[in-house]
Order: sequence, then structure tokens, then C-alpha cells
Amino acid sequence: MKKTTLLAVLLALPLCGCAQEPETPKGTEPVNQPKTLVAFFSATGTTKGVAERLAGAIGAVLYEIAPETPYGMADLDWRDKQSRSSVEMADRASRPAIAGPAPDLAGVDVVFVGFPIWWYREPSIIDTFVENNADALAGKTLVPFATSGGSGMGDSSANLQALAPAAKVAEGRRFRGSASADELAAWARGFR
Ligand SMILES: Cc1cc2nc3c(=O)[nH]c(=O)nc-3n(C[C@H](O)[C@H](O)[C@H](O)COP(=O)(O)O)c2cc1C
Repeated sequence: MKKTTLLAVLLALPLCGCAQEPETPKGTEPVNQPKTLVAFFSATGTTKGVAERLAGAIGAVLYEIAPETPYGMADLDWRDKQSRSSVEMADRASRPAIAGPAPDLAGVDVVFVGFPIWWYREPSIIDTFVENNADALAGKTLVPFATSGGSGMGDSSANLQALAPAAKVAEGRRFRGSASADELAAWARGFR
């Protein structure tokens, strides 16, 4: 082989190596990512903050469960047996109406549902939400989370499972109102 021909072959070698590398697709979204929704009800803003941080941390769609009739401060007085919240929570069949359209759950795999603990369990409007969407929740994972003055989740998970029998309802967890995005994301990873 001539010196010039050998030089040409050697120069071409690394280029050949590069050409055999598998092509990396550019600008393509990862497939098979579970689609996640964070639904929440919040009367005084604490659970709303946690829900927003959670949704932001895991890239989920946020959906507010807004009461058709908002709760005023007198409605929330748990010391008053006649207050709206006391009356609703004393009646297990109470289903306060929700404003606006139901969330679009098509293609959603995991639904986190957040609420304040009222009388050691989920507020009645959460029962409305789960019952109204029971069919759409079939086969999906429903993960309750809450804020409270200190109480845990109580029977919330079992209550929601009874309202949406075909959903897979996880045990869920109570968070401090100041729970960080990192703490929430680490917990949420277990369900996705
Ligand atoms: C009607 C009512 C009942 C409550 N019951 C409890 C309870 O049983 N245990 C508890 O720790 N906190 C209880 N709380 C406190 C709330 O769970 C707590 O303040 C929560 O973080 C409020 O969330 P929000 O701001 O998203 O509405 C109750 C609050 C209200 C208004």
C-alpha cells in the first residue's frame, strides 16, 4: 500500500467509528410516562399550597375541587354544632356540590387527591368528588394526602375505597403545610 493511501485509510477510521454509533433521537418526549393529576380541596389555603408544590414537583395537572357554595369562616367553625361543616360532617350521606366541570381523567394513571382533615377524616366534598368520578377512576390509582392540625388520615382511605370500589386507593399520608417540593416528590415517586 502506498504511503498516501495508508494515510487516507487511517484518517477515515475514526469517522467510520462515529458513523456506526446508534442515532440518538432529538426532541422526542419520553414515552410510557404515567400521566398524573393532583386534585385538591382547600378551605383556607394550606392544602392548596401543598397540592401546588406537589403538582409542580412531579409535573402533574392541577385540578381544584371548588365548592359550588364556598365555605366562609362561620361555616368552618367546628366548635359550633350548627355550622355548615359540623352539619355536613355529622351526616355521612352529605354530598356538597362541586362547581365547574369534572376533571378529564382519560389517559390518567394516578390521581392524587388532597384535602384538610375535618373531624378526623376527609371532608364530605371529597366524598362528592370520588363518588361523582367513581366510574372514571376504575383501574386507576387514587392516592389521598392531607394537611391537618395534627391528626392523621384516620379512615379516609377506606372511606374513599368504598366510594370508588374499582379504583386502587392507597393508604395516603398527612403532610405539614410547609412540606417541601422535594419531600412531596420523594413520596409521590412510590406511586408512579
Ligand atoms: C371543620 C374543621 C374540622 C377540622 N378537624 C380537624 C381534625 O379533626 N383534626 C385536625 O388535626 N385538624 C382539624 N382541622 C384543621 C385543618 O385540618 C387544618 O387547619 C388544615 O390544614 C386546613 O387546610 P386548608 O387550609 O387547606 O383548608 C379542622 C378544621 C376545620 C375547619
